[in-house]
Amino acid sequence: MIMIAAVLASTMSAGAAAPRSPTAFPQRATAFADKPAIAVGVSWYPEQWPEDRWDKDLAMMKATGFNTVRMAEFAWSRMEPEEGRFDFAWLDRAIAAARAHGMMVVLGTPTAAPPAWLTQKYPDVLRVDEDGTRAGHGARRQFSFASQRYRDFCRQIATEMAKRYGHNPAVVGWQIDNEVGPPSFDAESVGAWHAFLKARYGTIDELNRRWATQYWSQYYNDFDQVPLHATGQQNPALLLDFKHFTTVMWTDYIQNEATALRQAIDPRMFVTTNTMFWNAGFDHFRMHRDLDIAAWDNYIPDGRPDWVANGANHDLVRGYKQRNFWLMETQPGRVDWVPVNRALDPGQVREMAWQAIGHGADAVLYWQWRPAANGQETYHGAILGQDGEFNPIQPEIARTAAELNKAAPLLADTQPIARVAMLFSYDSRWAIDLQRHNRDFDPVKAFTEFYRPLRTQSQGVAILPVDADLSRYPLVVAPDLNVLTANEAQALARYVRAGGHLVLGPRSGMKDDANALWPQRQPGPLADLLGATVEQYYALDQSVEITGSVAGKAAIWAETLAPTASDVRTLASYRDTGGWLDGKPAIVSRNVGRGSITYVGAWLDTAAMAKLAAMLLADAKITPIVDGADPDIEIAERGGAGKRLLIAINHGKVAQSFVLPAGAVPVSGDWADGRLAAHGVALFTLRGDRK
Ligand code: GAL
Repeated sequence: MIMIAAVLASTMSAGAAAPRSPTAFPQRATAFADKPAIAVGVSWYPEQWPEDRWDKDLAMMKATGFNTVRMAEFAWSRMEPEEGRFDFAWLDRAIAAARAHGMMVVLGTPTAAPPAWLTQKYPDVLRVDEDGTRAGHGARRQFSFASQRYRDFCRQIATEMAKRYGHNPAVVGWQIDNEVGPPSFDAESVGAWHAFLKARYGTIDELNRRWATQYWSQYYNDFDQVPLHATGQQNPALLLDFKHFTTVMWTDYIQNEATALRQAIDPRMFVTTNTMFWNAGFDHFRMHRDLDIAAWDNYIPDGRPDWVANGANHDLVRGYKQRNFWLMETQPGRVDWVPVNRALDPGQVREMAWQAIGHGADAVLYWQWRPAANGQETYHGAILGQDGEFNPIQPEIARTAAELNKAAPLLADTQPIARVAMLFSYDSRWAIDLQRHNRDFDPVKAFTEFYRPLRTQSQGVAILPVDADLSRYPLVVAPDLNVLTANEAQALARYVRAGGHLVLGPRSGMKDDANALWPQRQPGPLADLLGATVEQYYALDQSVEITGSVAGKAAIWAETLAPTASDVRTLASYRDTGGWLDGKPAIVSRNVGRGSITYVGAWLDTAAMAKLAAMLLADAKITPIVDGADPDIEIAERGGAGKRLLIAINHGKVAQSFVLPAGAVPVSGDWADGRLAAHGVALFTLRGDRK
């Protein structure tokens, strides 16, 4: 049964549910003490190849330095060729072969790709698009997330796999499905939507009140009348609740299999699912609450990395569980799913791996080993070519694997160190996206622009949900906290009163969790603490000058702030002769005890943002580990178990020199004569605690 009410109860009341995890996972790749602390490996699809080739493949993987293979994730029609007839003999042999080569194995449940017999006999399990089109066989993810029948089949195959491999000595973890995301609009989904709304609002009167349905005669007499929509000119309350609905549905969908697995597997095996970058389909913090670790698939589709933005995505994934994660897939050079699939330059695949490690990955797995002879992904980057021999990228990957294997004992049980936290709110992202007001107000871009100088200047940022424990972070920045509940506001106020420095960006504190306007002007429930409110907001089609201690330009968005308390300081004002903004405060700040709250009402340009970040970090007494490094240099610190490590990556094309902190000792990599080579990576040990 779909557990809408139960999932909802722990989804919508922020922070109410305690995480449910059968075992406390360490800050390392697996909970098996005798296994490597860093997993390096590849996706391998033995079902696509003759069995007499497997041994050669595994020997070549070993020669590449891999210690892990991920398999079975799309092999449903091979594991269950007909309804109820299971054939695991081939997988037994594939796992045994991997084990014989000393590999750790991650098993995927195959439910992203239902077999043809299933959807032919039970077409009701197929997903239906918003326009009414029913999906068919031949691609993947063609199932409805609401189909009870589909979930029964999923539970069954997961149970069979768990019974068979739940104590296999090679298996270290399980990946459920693959990149879940597309919702469905079939009849069962509509039924689940109505059940969801009923569980969320209790009575239709309450829904009508929260959604303000007197507007445009939207009033509903019954839950059954509420249409299921993801897009279009619908009430933004409905559209935000659609996202809450998909969060509940996907969380419950994944838990259906997680529960089945956990009944039969060694509790040291992790249970996870692999997610995509900045995926807006569901609230990833909620989805991961009942999984053991987070795992994601990191691709640079156009082959032109924006390293800081990529680092932000790693930090977000780490934030899902606030513990180290798996890089479940990454590209051996290029992808095949964008208009121009440019390959990364030599050295950048290695940079990607080390960047992931620097941001808290304990595993780097490539996708994929060898392209299938046919199928949708024959052009994708792989470690082997179609002839079964190595591609030119292999030596770089082998070098990376050798370095990671060597560094594993040092990296074991360490995690990224950050003193700045940034709050990412799916509700806020969705709410802004639904009503951008300025088409250029991309909430992920807005977030990333705050992240950029904070990361490069502090060299460590944690990205957290709004209800996280913030007490160990002297500086907390919430770039666009549009949706803010009363409970969240109270927790943030407590953080400030306890000495924390809180910074809110534009559009913060405007909506409640039904996407309705707070009756107070922004920042709504934090307006009293700030001692100021947003008097008015304006979409900008041209930039406007700002002056003061943060000077530069504002673009896209500008809010005028009106102090209500006498001790509020104006840090920047607009200069906009003849316009609404002229002379009005753009950034205000107020000290509260030893803490402070700052509100930034404008979308700042790069220079102003850098200046603001420097001020905020100085106020919070946060200093970088390496001072004055070139912008191409990325610095990350991992600490724990009595160790401190520094990872330095030169993302640029020329060697760079910088001054290491006292006591830094190079362990491996491309550091020589005080310089880090172009596209170079180096690992150092550090002494003492970070200031
Ligand atoms: C991922 C997916 C893989 C493969 C890969 C290609 O999104 O999980 O199965 O399709 O993309 O880049």
